[in-house]
Amino acid sequence: MAGGIISNSDDSKKEFAGKITFYVVICGIIAATGGLMFGYDIGISGGVSAMDDFLEEFFPEVYVKKQRAKENNYCKYDNQILQLFTSSLYLAALVASFFASYSCTRFGRKRTMQAASAFFLVGVVLDAAARNLVMLIIGRILLGMGVGFGNQAVPLFLSEIAPVKARGALNILFQLNVTIGIFIANLVNYFTSDIHPWGWRLSLGLAGIPAAILCFGSLIITETPTSLVERSRTDRGLATLKKIRGVDNVDAEFAEIVHACESAKLVKHPYRELMRRSSRPPLVIAILLQVFQQFTGINAIMFYAPVLFQTMGFHNDASLLSAVITGIVNVFSTLVSIALVDRVGRKMLLLEACVQMLITQTIIGILLQVYLKSNNSLDRGIAIAVVILVCVYVMSFAWSWGPLGWLIPSETFPVETRTAGFSFAVSSNMLFTFLIAQAFLSMLCHMRAAIFFFFAAWIVVMGLFTVFLLPETKGVPIDEMAESVWKKHWYWKRYMDQNEDLERRASS
Ligand code: BGC
Repeated sequence: MAGGIISNSDDSKKEFAGKITFYVVICGIIAATGGLMFGYDIGISGGVSAMDDFLEEFFPEVYVKKQRAKENNYCKYDNQILQLFTSSLYLAALVASFFASYSCTRFGRKRTMQAASAFFLVGVVLDAAARNLVMLIIGRILLGMGVGFGNQAVPLFLSEIAPVKARGALNILFQLNVTIGIFIANLVNYFTSDIHPWGWRLSLGLAGIPAAILCFGSLIITETPTSLVERSRTDRGLATLKKIRGVDNVDAEFAEIVHACESAKLVKHPYRELMRRSSRPPLVIAILLQVFQQFTGINAIMFYAPVLFQTMGFHNDASLLSAVITGIVNVFSTLVSIALVDRVGRKMLLLEACVQMLITQTIIGILLQVYLKSNNSLDRGIAIAVVILVCVYVMSFAWSWGPLGWLIPSETFPVETRTAGFSFAVSSNMLFTFLIAQAFLSMLCHMRAAIFFFFAAWIVVMGLFTVFLLPETKGVPIDEMAESVWKKHWYWKRYMDQNEDLERRASS
């Protein structure tokens, strides 16, 4: 796929010379396995915390309560301590993402990924071998650090090595791995829940496989040209760019990287820079995309699918099976996003998904309100309808808010605030994942079927946000966002004050 039209300052849809090389694809595939660690954890925790052997060993009181529990349909699993087990990792990841930002700038994206896999591996060993709660929790914290470092470095790495016209597709390999991780974890739990008394150890221990893949795989991948130039390894940066583009004529793209990094070097304090008015557009968008991503309600399904389906009146095996079905839908629909994101653009996918999610959530809410309430279980026909609706809902999330919540924040910051800005996206994801994980079962217990209307209302808000405030970034070179996107947007352009820019450069 050769390109070659170089530089037309009025045209935001610019192309640089180069092709999508085998090497860049291999680097992308290896780095994206960082998403497996994240996904596996999302999928494994809910199942493990429902296993009796696990509860008896670490949460005996919860275990006793669970045996005696005689609560109504919606409140069967409302337990804060258990929810804390699931969500504690996200708090650790939240804090870790800020350190990871520093590490990305100072040591590079590649080293940060290696650190992620190392933290994760040690965490896995501690958790799988845990003899007491302290060991278990320290293990969770290390896993969280692994996730924080991985989620910070991987999407940035992918966006920086990708050629402009395939940036979306390459970046979404991360999300594809997240969905595969979730799916594998659901399957693993399905089998290990019958292995007594140590099935849960196997579930937690197998998380070591994706971390090992990233650890060894990262030995053969490249560092990004931007990170090399940013750290004054200019010659290596140029050689790397030639290698990943598969052509020698990379001058125009390289000149842009060098120019962006030179401006970035004038900035001594990225976080202070991030608080300036001109950083507001990408910052607000990065945070809101992640907050909205969580308010789609996706993790209510992902963490608690088996519990949720049981609550809806399905039996044990049927509910696990339903969770596996939604997992498969999640993986395959992400492929749709990879195929479409660089053709139809980001906004189109997000908006289409809002409509699809709004309709499905509302119908699920109505069905549960009417049928579950009156006879305390679901008729077969209604139950099947609910599973189909959940699949249609997951499908739309998987080709939109799931991948784009990571893609857009990784491609819209200038180099000087890229890692710092992206750490806000990562930490917002972790914070709101934590809040939803922590609150969902209690919300389900108190709001009942209305919880689906709650999420539906948020979808209206995020649809409006997409229409009015989100610019299209398809086909725009990563180091040109300020000129080609923000300064031309009807609302955000007022934040792109030229004077402030000059003032900053003078005072640095
Ligand atoms: C989100 C996760 C979610 C997953 C589902 C990710 O993009 O950040 O919170 O569980 O998608 O596939």
